[in-house]
Amino acid sequence: MSTDGGNPVPRRSIRVEVNGRQVAAEVEPRLLLVHFLRWQAGLTGTRVGCDTTSCGACTVLLDGSAVKACTMFAVQAGGRKVTTVEGLAPDGAPLTSLQEAFWAEHGLQCGYCTPGLLMAAAKLVADAEGELRDEDVREAISGNLCRCTGYVNVVAAIRRAARLTRSGGGPAAAGPERP
Ligand code: FES
Ligand code: FES
Repeated sequence: MSTDGGNPVPRRSIRVEVNGRQVAAEVEPRLLLVHFLRWQAGLTGTRVGCDTTSCGACTVLLDGSAVKACTMFAVQAGGRKVTTVEGLAPDGAPLTSLQEAFWAEHGLQCGYCTPGLLMAAAKLVADAEGELRDEDVREAISGNLCRCTGYVNVVAAIRRAARLTRSGGGPAAAGPERP
């Protein structure tokens, strides 16, 4: 057990449904959700870019809504459902339309920001009823920083994903917890 000023830090038992799998652990109350996902659940697709709620690389879905996993504690996710980028197309399943569109539109370069962008866009794409406008997409990903692409191809990919999804080209975000 680690200590805080010489006093032992108590641990809490939590159980989180991650990509349809129950993950149980004893965690310190100060453990961030992003570190729980990477260290306890072993899902390193969720990235840490800043730890200060600035970059969006850690974005996941919590009960279907996008959240920054460095902005909440793991204990706050106890009893809830988290979807990470690994949950979009698990176990060799076909890529989702969102992932296909990022590929087709060259929506990434180094890829560090990509898991967060995919999760930030998943709900927008799944909920889209008509053509997405550039400004709608840019608003949805305004909390996600990309140092490589200039965003143009990212926006094109998300708009393409919405068109693909509406035309039956595949789910925006498959996996156990559809947004
Ligand atoms: S690591 Fe969470 S916003 Fe940057
Ligand atoms: S593709 Fe490199 S940071 Fe976005």
